[in-house]
Amino acid sequence: MDLFDKIEGRPSPLGPFTSEGYGYYTFPRLEGPLGPEMKFNDKDVIVWSINDYLGIGSNEEIKKVDAAATAEYSLSAPMGARLMTGNSTEHELLEKELADFVHKPDALLLNYGYQGIMSVIHALVDRNDFLIYDELSHACIVDGKQLAMGEKSVFKHNDIESFKKQLFRAKSRMKENSSILVVTEGVFGMTGDLGILPEIIELKKEVPFRLLVDDAHGFGTLGNDGSGTGTQLNCQDGIDIYFGTFAKAVALIGAFVASEPRVIEFLKANVRSQIFAKSLPMPITVTARERIKMIRQHPEWREKLWDNTIKLRDGLKKIGYNVLPSESPVTPVLTQGSTDLCQDIMRKLREEHGVFVSGVAYPVVPKGTVLIRLIPTAAHNDEHIEKTLAAFAAIKDFVFAAAAKLSA
Ligand SMILES: Cc1ncc(COP(=O)(O)O)c(C=O)c1O
Repeated sequence: MDLFDKIEGRPSPLGPFTSEGYGYYTFPRLEGPLGPEMKFNDKDVIVWSINDYLGIGSNEEIKKVDAAATAEYSLSAPMGARLMTGNSTEHELLEKELADFVHKPDALLLNYGYQGIMSVIHALVDRNDFLIYDELSHACIVDGKQLAMGEKSVFKHNDIESFKKQLFRAKSRMKENSSILVVTEGVFGMTGDLGILPEIIELKKEVPFRLLVDDAHGFGTLGNDGSGTGTQLNCQDGIDIYFGTFAKAVALIGAFVASEPRVIEFLKANVRSQIFAKSLPMPITVTARERIKMIRQHPEWREKLWDNTIKLRDGLKKIGYNVLPSESPVTPVLTQGSTDLCQDIMRKLREEHGVFVSGVAYPVVPKGTVLIRLIPTAAHNDEHIEKTLAAFAAIKDFVFAAAAKLSA
């Protein structure tokens, strides 16, 4: 059978959200300057779906840095992979800044978080090793697992007994040259709960292993200095390889891992997604370093983010919504319902109230549940929050009636 004919008939993983929802539920076009107020289908909307946690994407000072760096270097430079011709002092200075920020001795830049972490897992785990990961891990970890050659096992989400079981099982099967890599997240992006890092780290005393933490959502938002979930939970030293992306709090593209120099040296020579790919453009590295410096100099951005998070969350709870007990700015509203309800909520909020949110239904969340995820940022203001709460109050009867019908 012709390959193209075959894939045409293959069901999409996006299910009913795909074809009829293109441009609306999937691939929506949010237009105008990045920020909490954008245009969707020519309509003004308050946006709660962008991970620009610290409001950096709409910061005028940063825009000037971007423009100056682009004018100086162009978007083309440098050419080639870093190993060959694509390295620069700016890339190296950024790595130093990142390592210093997250309290690790060294760091390695990655062009993309997703590809980077996959490739890091691939590089680290050989056929004698064991990879143990949380079942709710991001796709980049799950896909990294596919590349890894060792034995893989999964533990129930944030369940220390389940983790222990997998850890001791791995221990019992180890050969002389076997090692264990454990991978989990700092903040779980859909539900906002934190990984049980201190509990996991404590078990190193019983079975030695190395811990890689994907802190995509915690980097820049958590910890007294913004250095992430490890700092927040007072266990940054127990994280052997810390991963952060620029795609969220830094509002950019690119990512990094931070660890001991011997590990970074090994990764420089073995992370294939970097060795065989053009390096990050100069303006990205220049602005990334400036952004990190500014994040460190402006703790009030994080304070505002948290202020907005608490106002939004308390307001939603007061109306009667079930806001999951998130420990990060991620604000998940859970209700009972079908995919249709999920789409209805998104449409009503967008069309009747000018509020843009994203939602997910089965199979991303269990059948019969709908999760609406709001991402507050430091750029939102009280008016955005009040208008949004008013919108949620206005659709409440509709949402709760659908839930009641389902449980009847
Ligand atoms: C938990 C997590 N890990 C990794 C990534 C991938 O990062 P990037 O967008 O830099 O590829 C994301 C999403 O951006 C994420 O949410």
